[in-house]
Amino acid sequence: MNEAILSGLLESGTDPADVVATVRRAERAAELAERHHGVTAIAGEEEPDNNKQATKGSGVVILGVKPVGITELAREISSSLSPTTVVVSVAAAVSIAQLEAALPAGQPVIRSMPNTPAKLGRGVVSVSPGTNCTAEQLQRVKDVLHGAGTVVEVPEEQVDALSAISGSGPAYAFYLAEAMAAAGRELGLDPDLSLLLARETVAGAGFMLAEPGADPSALRKAVTSPNGTTERAIATFDERGLPAIIAAGARAAAERAAEITRQLG
Ligand SMILES: NC(=O)c1ccc[n+]([C@@H]2O[C@H](COP(=O)([O-])OP(=O)(O)OC[C@H]3O[C@@H](n4cnc5c(N)ncnc54)[C@H](OP(=O)(O)O)[C@@H]3O)[C@@H](O)[C@H]2O)c1
Repeated sequence: MNEAILSGLLESGTDPADVVATVRRAERAAELAERHHGVTAIAGEEEPDNNKQATKGSGVVILGVKPVGITELAREISSSLSPTTVVVSVAAAVSIAQLEAALPAGQPVIRSMPNTPAKLGRGVVSVSPGTNCTAEQLQRVKDVLHGAGTVVEVPEEQVDALSAISGSGPAYAFYLAEAMAAAGRELGLDPDLSLLLARETVAGAGFMLAEPGADPSALRKAVTSPNGTTERAIATFDERGLPAIIAAGARAAAERAAEITRQLG
């Protein structure tokens, strides 16, 4: 996820010389520096104060370790932050209150929820400002994250719902492609051909959805001739309750996010 954000950032014109990335392993740091020419990458196993080095003098700091390590990392970098450094966390389920409690009083904080298409600059990245974040600081972070995709601002209360749709959503689309490939095999298609058909069809439909103003319902109706084959398939999905199944899955994801927040708290 962090490399997806980094790629988007550089694609959108950020000077690589202005970016410092930290990781644990030297091998990973070397890989990042090679792939993103001009970016400084520092490994904790070589320089244990790498996170402090990277955050000193930074205007925006993006924290992207696993949720369970976020508050520890926030405490680790606290002494090297300036009072105006904006700390952005992309960790799922870690609340603004939990972040603010781990940072110096008054530190500007933004909670963000990206998704993996950010790697191609086609992600959805949410931002929810904390109590000390000014409008200018929020705008600066939106500009930084813009390279990763469409930036949306949501109140923190809606992050679990957003995460259930856009955060987990790429997996739902991949799941659909898997199910389509399995259905093709069941209909007698060669497995490789079936996978290719499912993959290219979901990807192609995604491109159509990415057109400005695209409406999924109108696009679906445009390929559904009355009394045709697609109509029969969609009617079967409806009869079997597929929309309700998807809604139940999304609800379960949102509930799980709330559960993890409680556990981390
Ligand atoms: N994956 C998603 O779709 C998604 C969506 C939204 C939000 N997120 C959030 O994104 C965050 C990262 O997820 P991920 O799946 O990308 O995890 P990941 O693959 O484990 O990446 C974590 C990265 O952080 C580095 N790291 C770990 N501890 C560190 C430390 N103390 N100091 C410096 N670097 C450290 C790791 O370095 P090494 O490589 O050297 O170990 C690794 O590069 C999580 O908080 C997750 O909730 C993920």
